[in-house]
Amino acid sequence: MKKLLALVLALVMVLAATSAFADGLLKIGYVQVGHESDWRMANTQNYYDVFTKEAGFELELIDCDNDHALQLAKVREFVQKDFDYIVIDPIQTAGWDDVLKEVQDAGIPCIIADRSVDASADLYTTAVGTDMTAEGETAGKWLAEYLNGKEAKILVIEGSTGSSAAIGRAEGFNKIAAEHPEWKIIDSQDGDFTQAGGQQVMESFIKTYGADGFDVVVCHNDNEAYGAMDAMDAAEIKYGVDGKIIISFDATKEGLTRTLNGQILCNVECNPIQAVIVMNVIKALQNNETVEKFTLVPDEGFCAPGITSEIVTTMTDEVLAGRKY
Ligand code: AHR
Repeated sequence: MKKLLALVLALVMVLAATSAFADGLLKIGYVQVGHESDWRMANTQNYYDVFTKEAGFELELIDCDNDHALQLAKVREFVQKDFDYIVIDPIQTAGWDDVLKEVQDAGIPCIIADRSVDASADLYTTAVGTDMTAEGETAGKWLAEYLNGKEAKILVIEGSTGSSAAIGRAEGFNKIAAEHPEWKIIDSQDGDFTQAGGQQVMESFIKTYGADGFDVVVCHNDNEAYGAMDAMDAAEIKYGVDGKIIISFDATKEGLTRTLNGQILCNVECNPIQAVIVMNVIKALQNNETVEKFTLVPDEGFCAPGITSEIVTTMTDEVLAGRKY
């Protein structure tokens, strides 16, 4: 009898150690890329807004500061602590096989969010995110429409090397560029998705090619575009409808403000509001429903007022007013 009591007690203690039993909250571990951009801050805030205790969740969000090794270590920590769900926003596409296998072996459902991984889809439960290649293609198609056959020398400030966001946007844009022999991509450098990175790369572009050496700057996110503008301001280089063409990605509130005022001519959205979609996936899994292997987060493109486009939407005050982040 004593033995049975001890066994029951041990079982209760084990169950009590799991969050779902202890407080009814689902423990969600989210390894966030970092805090490199306005987009990232918006995405983080969105997770805090959605995964609340009131909604039934206990969220532990780790800012991995763009450190792949740290991101792997934190996933392993979540496994050790037996979290109910692990959400990974992968800094880079490569190097995920082993850790994903460990999560799978531990029986913890794993959701890849925002960016993607090279690893086989069999190694994770499901993925949620935007189509980064389509984003790049939209930017290219808009440029083709805007230039309408005119020649252009193009500079690219890339996002962090090895990230699916940078890889996809480059792939999509290059696909369209290949259809336009009148375009020349003269240089492409990593700006690490930061304003400082964008400024640094642009300064070096200006030094190398001079103010007359380029027509278009494609920035892989809004913060890089702000940095590029800082560098062009310092060099007294004009941008906008009467100057260099700046194309950006993300379409954050500030990025769209600068599109509305004509500084950025085209801004292709990457929607940071993804937490509700992830939450719905988790709810479906909790109900033992089958979920799609990939859920697309929809997004759209915008261009500055005065430009008519069949590819993207022309910016208005109303569009901006509807933006939270
Ligand atoms: O993965 C999304 C990208 O990462 C966003 O474009 C960028 O701003 C961020 O840092």
